[in-house]
Parts: sequence; structure tokens; C-alpha cells
Amino acid sequence: MRIIPLLPILAMATLLGACSDRIKDTHPQQLVSKRQALFKQFTKTLEPMGLVARDRQDYVKADFMASAVALQELSNKPWVYFAADGNYPPTRAKPEVWSQAGEFKLSQDSFLASVNKLVEVSGSADLPAIRASVETVEKSCKSCHDQFRSDRQ
Ligand code: HEC
Repeated sequence: MRIIPLLPILAMATLLGACSDRIKDTHPQQLVSKRQALFKQFTKTLEPMGLVARDRQDYVKADFMASAVALQELSNKPWVYFAADGNYPPTRAKPEVWSQAGEFKLSQDSFLASVNKLVEVSGSADLPAIRASVETVEKSCKSCHDQFRSDRQ
């Protein structure tokens, strides 16, 4: 008796969900929202270093070191939010995150190593080394995305 009146509401919700561009994260711990917010910070933090690497912005030692350390502090944060019950809409993570958990962990490890290396050279003023390290970090973002993130927005 109590379920029947819900049906039109569910149907409405489905329609609305299809129309709105943002599906709500209904998980009690907001796993998808939390990890996506962290990844957005990845991009924001990496960006000024990318500009330096491409000669679009001057290298300022203190600023560059601060950005590298900020990225390092972020770099191990998203992974805990890929919990076993964390594969639900609106995630863009591929099912391989969960079905190939070992590979996903390896990809995190090589990313973390690339960020540590960037921190190491960040204060050196050695621009070729800095450029190479930024590129390695960017490649490790991309290689994980190729493997574990779908193109669908
Ligand atoms: C080990 C794998 C891995 C690495 C390394 C990684 N990402 Fe991601 N990233 C993901 C996955 C998986 C998602 C999809 C998350 C979701 O939607 O649940 C994602 C999503 C994103 C998003 C989209 C967030 C949103 O709001 O939908 C951005 C932006 C992003 N990553 C940037 C980066 C940047 C920049 C780096 C490198 C500094 C990076 N990522 C490194 C796996 C990775």
C-alpha cells in the first residue's frame, strides 16, 4: 500500500535526472563528490607549475616549491574514497578501478613517486629538470585517466 504512491514520484525523479546535467550524489559519505572535488584541486594546483614548465610564467622558487608541496599533500587523498561501495552515478571512474584494484594501486604509486620527484627538484631552479618532472606528473595523471576514467562527462 505504501509503495504504490511512490511510483509516480520515482518516475518523475528519473525524468528529472535525465534532464538535469548533474546527478545528485546520494551516498551517505558522498564518496564520488569528495574524490571529484579533490581531483579538481589537483588540476588547480598543477596548473601554475604547468605554466612555468611551458615558459608561460616565470619560475619563482618559493611559489613553485609551495605548489609542489601542495600537490604532494593532495596526492594521497582521493584514493580512500574509491571504497568498495563507491562505484555509483555520477562517477566517471571505470569499473576497472574496482576489478583491477592492484593495477589501480600501481598507477597511484607511480603518480605519488612522480610528485615526490617534483617536490625534490622544485627548489633547484634547474628548469630542464623541473620541466621534465612536471611532464612526468602530467603523464601519470593522463595514464591513469586513460586506464581508469571514462571519457563520458
Ligand atoms: C591513479 C589514478 C589517477 C591519477 C594518478 C589521477 N587521476 Fe584524475 N581521476 C581518476 C579517476 C578514476 C577519476 C574519476 C573519478 C570519479 O568520477 O569518480 C578522475 C577524475 C579527475 C578529474 C575530474 C573531476 C570531476 O569533477 O569529475 C580531474 C579534473 C582529474 N581527475 C585531474 C587529475 C590530475 C590533474 C591528476 C594529476 C595531477 C590526476 N587527476 C591524477 C584517476 C586518477
